[in-house]
Amino acid sequence: MREECKSTLRGSLQYLICFSLLLPLSLSYHPSLTPCPSLCTCYPSPPTASCQSHNLSRVPSPLPGLARRVFLQNNQISELGPGLFSPLTSVLWLFSNRISLLRPGAFQGLEYLKELDLGNNPSLPPLQPDTFSGLSSLQSLHLYRCHIHRLPADLFRGLHSLRYLYLQHNYLTGLPDGLFRDLSNLTQLFLHGNLLQSLPAGSFFGLSSLDRLLLHSNRLVSISPAAFRGLSSLTILFLFNNSLPSLPGDSLRSLPSLQFLRLNGNPWHCDCSCRSLWGWFRSTPGISSSPVTCTSPPALRGRELRSLEERDLRFCSSHNPPPTGNLSGLSFSPKPSSFYRGQPALGEGDVREWEDMIGEGTDNGENANGASYTRGFGITLLVALLIWDVNIDL
Ligand SMILES: *[C@@H]1O[C@H](CO)[C@@H](O)[C@H](O)[C@H]1NC(C)=O
Ligand SMILES: *[C@@H]1O[C@H](CO)[C@@H](O)[C@H](O)[C@H]1NC(C)=O
Ligand SMILES: *[C@@H]1O[C@H](CO)[C@@H](O)[C@H](O)[C@H]1NC(C)=O
Ligand SMILES: *[C@@H]1O[C@H](CO)[C@@H](O)[C@H](O)[C@H]1NC(C)=O
Repeated sequence: MREECKSTLRGSLQYLICFSLLLPLSLSYHPSLTPCPSLCTCYPSPPTASCQSHNLSRVPSPLPGLARRVFLQNNQISELGPGLFSPLTSVLWLFSNRISLLRPGAFQGLEYLKELDLGNNPSLPPLQPDTFSGLSSLQSLHLYRCHIHRLPADLFRGLHSLRYLYLQHNYLTGLPDGLFRDLSNLTQLFLHGNLLQSLPAGSFFGLSSLDRLLLHSNRLVSISPAAFRGLSSLTILFLFNNSLPSLPGDSLRSLPSLQFLRLNGNPWHCDCSCRSLWGWFRSTPGISSSPVTCTSPPALRGRELRSLEERDLRFCSSHNPPPTGNLSGLSFSPKPSSFYRGQPALGEGDVREWEDMIGEGTDNGENANGASYTRGFGITLLVALLIWDVNIDL
């Protein structure tokens, strides 16, 4: 019925009539939800302007002033500037557009904004230190697949409410010092599918509530013993499909809440450089971990690090250095079309990134039976984790 309204009636007055027919009872249809821009569908509960998938080249203006949710995904929007969105906006979906110009102040004054999805905008210009400043209510920020090469150190300053930060599938080679300093409420940080090579001490400083840190499918060759310092709530850490020959046991010792660890798909060099990791596993028996298969030395190739004995780890001589420092052969090619793997959002048929966080990138014969996670705040992957746990433990 609503669809009929949309396709047959365009004018705002007709809209009003249509809605009064549809919703004859108590709904006081505030005039500020009109006019609804053409090609959009507006509805009052919750106040929404839904304008997705219409090849729109710009943000319709004006949008209804009372709209709390604004859906503009899957269009061809290339430019954002100040004044386009009502200060009341709390959910703003702009994913899968062509944003290539972000004028200063594009998100200024959106003090009620809780969710901002800019994902899959491959021409997104470099983010400025103040791009998100003032978004003090922001809980969820999506910046996946935006071809981001670097982030300004102050980008997330003042985002004290942020809980979910999605930066996966970009071209980040490093993280500036103090980047996460203000994010004490962040619970999920997705950084997989970037080009990170090392994690220096204090990389995640400030993230005292972080529960889930995904760093798989990067180019990591080294991780500082103090890289994860301060992550006192972290339960899930994914490091699979990197280039780590070793991992300091001390880096994991600073994670008192850790439960799920994935280390497969790394060239583990099981000599004394892996000894501290081996020791950490010994001292932390309750951890669920994917396989840690030795690549070298030749005598231990194919063996599982965790099941090695003390006597196996005697190769602690200087003439057998770990294979670090040679990054040739790790050439990166742009990601294939699986980029756009999507799933309908709220039945509206939009393509959005739904992470297959569990089955992705394993080297041990697991199925890629990922779990779509339900959008929204605070819904976790409990079921999927249980499956994953069963699959890989042992
Ligand atoms: C959007 O553009 C594409 C190609 O340019 C076309 O196939 C599609 O039908 C258009 N969609 C709408 C809703 O106009
Ligand atoms: C964020 O965390 C701080 C403490 O670090 C707390 O005082 C504040 O209420 C939290 N804000 C939200 C929105 O959860
Ligand atoms: C790095 O490894 C490649 C083969 O993967 C080899 O051809 C090259 O000589 C190595 N470079 C150095 C500096 O060891
Ligand atoms: C591993 O990571 C590379 C990028 O570093 C990516 O291209 C590849 O698809 C990943 N492989 C798996 C199995 O996840």
